Amino acid sequence: MIILGIETSCDETGVAILKKEKGQDGVTILSNVVASSASLQAKYGGVIPEYAAREQLKSIIPVIKEAINDSGLTINEIDAIAVTYGPGLIGSLLVGVEISKVLSMIWKKPLIPVNHLLGHFYANFIQVSSSKFQVPKFPCLGLLISGGHTDLVLFKNHGRYQYLGGTRDDAAGECFDKCARLLGLSYPGGPQISKLATQGDPLRFNLPRPMINSQDLDFSFSGLKTAFANVLNTSEVKCHLAASLEAAIVDVLVAKTIKAAKLHKVKQIMVAGGVAANSNFSSLVRNLFHNQIFIPPPHLCTDNAAMIAAAGFFIKPLKSPLSLQADPSLSWN
Ligand code: KG4
Ligand code: ZN
Repeated sequence: MIILGIETSCDETGVAILKKEKGQDGVTILSNVVASSASLQAKYGGVIPEYAAREQLKSIIPVIKEAINDSGLTINEIDAIAVTYGPGLIGSLLVGVEISKVLSMIWKKPLIPVNHLLGHFYANFIQVSSSKFQVPKFPCLGLLISGGHTDLVLFKNHGRYQYLGGTRDDAAGECFDKCARLLGLSYPGGPQISKLATQGDPLRFNLPRPMINSQDLDFSFSGLKTAFANVLNTSEVKCHLAASLEAAIVDVLVAKTIKAAKLHKVKQIMVAGGVAANSNFSSLVRNLFHNQIFIPPPHLCTDNAAMIAAAGFFIKPLKSPLSLQADPSLSWN
């Protein structure tokens, strides 16, 4: 089966074509194109929704054409279209949802609606190298760490999951981005903080680890941002500030993941979202969980359409594609 995926929930315009062979658990990428307006957004220190949507409107058709060309397939060989319908920015979501409805009608292909949050986890089902490949086994714990979400989810099977906890205010990626901005770094700040942190001392500043010992599986990062801002008033050694911030965020993420895994008696853990591309985080959890932890390669951690197409293999198509509506506040239920 071959699925074309479309992702336009934030500032990326992604189109990918993936294939799943009969009897295989994993899926493979035939093409994966991402056009980002991040460099435009960087000028403003964050994503301006109208600019993002306008750029997506310009690039969606060329990106679809490029993905089809790269795959070497004809439209006839594509079996279905999968699209992100939420959560995200309404203007951006509409670009992907409306074009996918049109394509579904004119190409006569089934349309599969994908929740962006769920889609992130399916990056773990994509086989990227020819070496031995395993997909996560259910039940497994999911940790989504992106710019908008920090969620712990228990996966019982495809389509059967339970939200366990999440952030009460800022997401982990948001905390990276906001603190980066305080340091004068451009958007997105996570990768830049992470780069600076390699030259810094994570113990130089004793930043708080919010809710690390709380009984629940929730998170909170807005207080950490305030503490960071206060420390910034006393010192300007950016690399130590970056390293101390990264250590605080990573400590909380790891502690809550261990707690959730123990509480729900799961052995396998899959991580997803842009912050999973953080190398300090990934090396720490790989050391802790060895071959029981699944983390996508960095380019599949951040927003892309390959993960949306991958999810599409495990979700039922809509009976009436034209009924699909973008849902900016879609959640886990
Ligand atoms: O998943 P994603 O691409 O978009 C959302 O759905 O939100 O995640 C973007 C987030 C941004 O906050 C960005 O700063 C963060 O992921 N990020 C990182 C790294 N790479 C991306 N955070 C820390 N370290 C990184 N290496
Ligand atoms: Zn995302």
